[in-house]
Amino acid sequence: MMSALPDLINGHLKEIERIVNNDQPVSTPKVFRSGIDLGTADIVLIVIDEAGRPLAAFLEWAEVVRDGVVLDYWGAVEIVKRLVQRAEQKLHIKIDSAVTSYPPGTDPRTSKNVLIAAGLQVEAVVDEPSSVVHLLEIEEGAVVDIGGGTTGISIVQKKEIVYTADEATGGRHMTLTLAGNRKISYEQAEKLKRNGPADEIRAVIAPVFQKMSAIVLGHIKDKNVKQLYFSGGTCCFPGADRVFKEELEGLEIIMPYHPLYLTPLAIASYGKG
Ligand SMILES: Nc1ncnc2c1ncn2[C@@H]1O[C@H](COP(=O)(O)OP(=O)(O)OP(=O)(O)O)[C@@H](O)[C@H]1O
Ligand SMILES: [Mg+2]
Repeated sequence: MMSALPDLINGHLKEIERIVNNDQPVSTPKVFRSGIDLGTADIVLIVIDEAGRPLAAFLEWAEVVRDGVVLDYWGAVEIVKRLVQRAEQKLHIKIDSAVTSYPPGTDPRTSKNVLIAAGLQVEAVVDEPSSVVHLLEIEEGAVVDIGGGTTGISIVQKKEIVYTADEATGGRHMTLTLAGNRKISYEQAEKLKRNGPADEIRAVIAPVFQKMSAIVLGHIKDKNVKQLYFSGGTCCFPGADRVFKEELEGLEIIMPYHPLYLTPLAIASYGKG
């Protein structure tokens, strides 16, 4: 079975898609909150208003983080500073603090340190898939966040997060598989993955989808999970929902409108009253 997220959340994701990397100034909000997702493929800053609506969204593709380890610490700090500056100019505000995140099982201080070095106070740190649990107010089920480097999972029973995990398989591994198959560079394969003929590419990267599905099944085993809420840029691949539906038979698959933006939105929203 395939389901959709509430219209409100999908609406926010559509709005992020519309405004992402748009520097055009808009009116200054009275109250706002910021979240920074330090991912292995990209760094995303989202600013939301009191009602949780996105006001600004800035994204830079950068492989400065890998598996919860910041490979290029100062690179990450510079990007965060740049994203913050763009949001400050767009909204005519001063951003002093933000929420940030970390992959389950890694050291949350890594992300904290990057924010502090960028001159920000850290309001909270939340693990990535669990931020989505909070945003969607999930009572039963699991969030599966498939990013560039990792697949993160957070399992909820009776409104409580009972289990989190993160494994090093993500979109990057699809790109590597495609590069090997076509004998092209990583960069060329990344472009091809996003813009090439989806049916042909799906056949090549299917083993990676299967591995991700096996990871999910391994983690939810014996935990009575019936619903899987997906997030993460890898789910943007055309037909990813159908592949997961086949591989994860019997489970309800819930795909957001734009999976790349769900976790960053959830991070910005974390701790909002
Ligand atoms: N249209 C698309 N089709 C296929 N893959 C895509 C598409 N758009 C983005 N991706 C992939 O999504 C991944 C990035 O997703 P995301 O931003 O969720 O990762 P991240 O948060 O940086 O990484 P992680 O959570 O693993 O640290 C990249 O591997 C990228 O290739
Ligand atoms: Mg991520």
